[in-house]
Amino acid sequence: MTLSIVILAAGKGKRMRSELPKVLHVLGGMTLLERVVNTALSLSPKQIYVVYGNGGDRVPTEMAHLPVTWVHQAEQCGTGHAVAQVLPHLEDADRVLVLYGDVPLITTATLHDLLNQTPPEALGLVVTQLEKPAGFGRIVRDTTGNILKIVEQKDADPAQLAIQEINTGILTTTAQHLKTWLPRIKQQNAQNEYYLTDIVAMAVSDDTPVAGISAQCPQEVQGVNNLLELSRLERYYQVQQAHQLMEVGVTVMDPHRLDIRGQVSTDTDVQLDVNVVLEGTIKVGHHTTIAANNVLRNVTLGNHVKIEPNCVIEDAVIGDHCVVGPFARIRPGTRLTAHNKVGNFVEIKNSQLGEGSKVPHLSYIGDATLGKNVNMGAGSITVNYDGVEKHQTLIEDNAFVGCDSQLIAPVVVETGAYIAAGSTITTKAPAHKLTIARNKQRTIDGWKPKTRD
Ligand code: UD1
Ligand code: CA
Repeated sequence: MTLSIVILAAGKGKRMRSELPKVLHVLGGMTLLERVVNTALSLSPKQIYVVYGNGGDRVPTEMAHLPVTWVHQAEQCGTGHAVAQVLPHLEDADRVLVLYGDVPLITTATLHDLLNQTPPEALGLVVTQLEKPAGFGRIVRDTTGNILKIVEQKDADPAQLAIQEINTGILTTTAQHLKTWLPRIKQQNAQNEYYLTDIVAMAVSDDTPVAGISAQCPQEVQGVNNLLELSRLERYYQVQQAHQLMEVGVTVMDPHRLDIRGQVSTDTDVQLDVNVVLEGTIKVGHHTTIAANNVLRNVTLGNHVKIEPNCVIEDAVIGDHCVVGPFARIRPGTRLTAHNKVGNFVEIKNSQLGEGSKVPHLSYIGDATLGKNVNMGAGSITVNYDGVEKHQTLIEDNAFVGCDSQLIAPVVVETGAYIAAGSTITTKAPAHKLTIARNKQRTIDGWKPKTRD
């Protein structure tokens, strides 16, 4: 049977108190909807349908990169009505899995359990036990344990409210069943909505078997209804990520103070200190340490790299045995080859440093290529921008740029050139020579400090 997946994402998310449609809120660096779609894709379905509505076209526009079919639900009249919007797209023989756009951490493992343990012609529900089931639909069973129906919180009597087994909303059945049942759903309930959950009682009266499959852990079926719930799920997710890193041999100083908002791959003996934020695609080589308070986005770190505290590094490659920071800012397009030192209060943008080159303090290096073993003195800067265009600076092997020098680009500092401190370099500094470009020091004899009146 081919699998079609329906993701419900049309709801208002009123309790989020946000202009942003709920499914566009972010968890672990990814929108809730992207997370659910990724999990759906892991099941290799024939097609994924996302039912959208609230927030107008914002969801399909901002999520246009997702490989899904968008189905509009003009009015949000309930989950049953939402699934019904997809029926014209479904072939009778399809097996259908319904997911919620605001239940972001559902796992492939639980969905496999659901699909494998539900006979194809049956109705399968993902259920779980909650100590505080308030707000959820309750699973009503008969005395022998067969599922009879689902009762929503607002429609439940006191005995039903005491039931702790709840409906997660995630279910599977055939398209053919849905085509029979959905048109029969009525709005006669406390919320005047078309409840998808009413199909459970219909299945029972049609003698279709109903299976309840337990979620592997309660958090994965947690929905996001407000920002408090979102933050709780975020924390849960982050601790999970930290645990996964520790399982593959990363020393995480405090699993509660590490944030991963993307994909991290690590080699052996990596250490991550507190308050490290890793975004996008991050690769970390062996024996590499990231000290406290670092933010890295799309960065590859080689082996034996040391990122000292308080750096911001983005779209960069840091080669083996480099030391960066404390307080360094590495901007996009930067490549440190190997054995480089980038020290405190240094900004580097779109530049390459050859092996062994050092920029130890208070520099700006932009649009520059440094050869091997170049030394940039404290306060040296590349003047790469003339107000209109950016220009390149080339500093060849073994050059020494004295403190507080400005290299006005485009300009070349040749191999082994030595720039005297305080120079403003506007044309080529020739190889192996001392270039000095500053006013000569003079002392005025007979000078006296001014006095008042
Ligand atoms: C639903 C279930 C409840 C279950 C709970 C789990 C029903 C009637 N109830 O209740 O048994 O315990 O989820 O979280 O199904 N949506 C649409 N269009 C609509 C209405 C909803 O796309 O017209 C989407 C929402 O965006 C959301 C999902 O469906 O992603 C669930 O809707 P929501 O209103 O939150 O359902 P609950 O009342 O929480
Ligand atoms: Ca909900």
